[in-house]
Amino acid sequence: MDSKKIKQLVDLATAAQVNAHAPYSGFNVGAAILSKTTHTYSGCNVENVAYPLGQCAEATAIGNMVCNGDKAIAAIVITSPTEDLCFPCGGCRQKIAEFSDESTQVIMTSKDGKMQTLSMAELLPYAFSNNTPTS
Ligand code: THU
Repeated sequence: MDSKKIKQLVDLATAAQVNAHAPYSGFNVGAAILSKTTHTYSGCNVENVAYPLGQCAEATAIGNMVCNGDKAIAAIVITSPTEDLCFPCGGCRQKIAEFSDESTQVIMTSKDGKMQTLSMAELLPYAFSNNTPTS
């Protein structure tokens, strides 16, 4: 993926991060998806006073993507509010995997500009993917 496209996704994710509703953790996260159809979608984390109901930034971005008719992720950027990269939680790895293939790039960026790109096979090896009942 060219650096201009990555920067565009980082900018989108950073803009969403500002709007995060994270009063309980104080940890604002942003995400931005480039779909295979070349559309972009962003998301932020949305926490709730009933803590387990909180939603991660990746899930919000995926919801926006699906709402708008896209189902294939070319790349997803996750922006961390700290100098450490923010890797997707286990649940989000499964959620990203639903709309990914071997070419999907998961790009983590930190506040001070660090960046790491991983595939879903690296992030979620031995993923559950078969829900077809055997007869
Ligand atoms: N969070 C995300 O939005 N994405 C991640 O990849 C990891 C964690 C959120 C969940 C919660 O609102 C806050 O960060 C602290 O865990």
